[in-house]
This record gives sequence, structure tokens and C-alpha cells, in this order.
Amino acid sequence: MRKPIIAGNWKMNKTLTESKTFVTSIIPLVNNINECEIIIAPPYIALDAVNQLLNNTSISLAAQNISTEKEGAFTGDISINMIKSCNCSHVIIGHSEQRLYHNENNQKCHIKCKLSLENDITPIYCVGETLAEREANKTLAVIKNQLIECLDDISLESKEIIIAYEPVWAIGTGKVATPEQAQDVHTFIRDTLAKEKGETVANKTRILYGGSVKPDNIDDLIKQPDIDGALVGGACLKADSFVELINKTNYVTH
Ligand code: PGA
Repeated sequence: MRKPIIAGNWKMNKTLTESKTFVTSIIPLVNNINECEIIIAPPYIALDAVNQLLNNTSISLAAQNISTEKEGAFTGDISINMIKSCNCSHVIIGHSEQRLYHNENNQKCHIKCKLSLENDITPIYCVGETLAEREANKTLAVIKNQLIECLDDISLESKEIIIAYEPVWAIGTGKVATPEQAQDVHTFIRDTLAKEKGETVANKTRILYGGSVKPDNIDDLIKQPDIDGALVGGACLKADSFVELINKTNYVTH
């Protein structure tokens, strides 16, 4: 059985004070949530403070990225040890905004996923096609490549990775994939994992959908047998919509 996940990706939103206020406001609202895993990914500058607020809660902390390097002269980058020192249990890798604006590619994602797994931090690895790729019927080829190039020679039998399918054309656009479109790609991802890593890994891996997920469209997405939750941007920034997404996902199991 795969426990569903709602992961909030704050992107470049919220100052330190706003981050603390937001987290303080949601903690009592999700106190009795047991069946849904909650992850939040604040900006780096808030990780330490948010970590302290999350003590004794079941909310997990994620960083939005890490460097491929362990330390040294890499101005502006954040290392695996730095996010570890803030108690992060997860890290987002390969987000399409990183792929688009910062030349993130499958080879770099491979290094980052390996580094995270070696350090017992669970990667949330993002895959997804652009609109041009979908219109050219290349969706599955792109996703397969993103999976194979990133996960090559990574053993997942005793480790966990979370995959997030985020069609680039659905992120922040209000254009959500239909539940059927999303389910088709999720099935393909699980089949690819089965071929590459074996059935056990494929069956245990949680595959999240991301791209304009909101309280009014989550129900039909989460009902799909291979959608194990959501990676949420815009709708995770307000306490009411974030908590509603969590409540709607709390009793769904696949
Ligand atoms: P969105 O972002 O929910 O605002 O579309 C999702 C994401 O980029 O992870």
C-alpha cells in the first residue's frame, strides 16, 4: 500500500517571517492527519527556522534543490550537507523551472539523486514534457529518457525515491492535465520503473502529479490508481487551500 503525499513547493515565495507565520498557522490544522504524508519545501533561508517549528509534528521538510558538488567555490549553491544540517528529509530534483532557467539536465539530476540517496535524503525527482513535446507525440519518449538517464545504476531496493510527473504546460498555467492524461503517464512511469528496477520497486514508488493542482481538481486526480498524491505550487501558499488538499487526500490509498 502506498501512503499518499501532498508536497508543497513554495518556490521563491515567502520571507523568513512569512514562512514562520505560515508554518505556525498550519501545524494545528493538520495535527490529526495520519493517512497522508505532508511535505513542505520552503526557500533555503527559512529551512532552519521551519525545521525548529516542525519538531514533534509529522510534517517533513524538503529543500528545493541541491548542488551536484559537496562543497567549495560554488557561489550561490547549497550542498547536501547544508540541507542535512537543517534536518531536511527530502529534496526536489529536476524541477522544470530548474531545467528551464538553470540548465538542469538528466545527468546533473543523476548526480544529485545519487548524492541524496547516499545521504538518506529522499529525492522528489520531477519529470515532464513541454507543450511542444506533447504536441509532437514525444511525451513518453521524453519521460522515459528523464527516468533512465537519471536513475541509471541507482539501486532503489532499499532506498526510496518519489517521482513527480509535472507536465511543463500545466505548471502555474491553470491548465491541469485531465485525470486520464495524468494516469496514462503515471502508468507508463510505473511500467518503466518495473522494467528498469523490478516490480517491487515499481509497486512501492509513490508517483505524484503536479501542475495547477487545486482543491477543486484534486479529487478526480487522486482517484486514479497510479496517482499517489500531488506536488503543489500555487495552492500550497495559502493555509486554507493547502490544508484542504491534505484533507481531501487523507483517506485515499492505492
Ligand atoms: P503549480 O506548481 O501547482 O503552481 O502549477 C507545481 C510545481 O511547479 O511543482
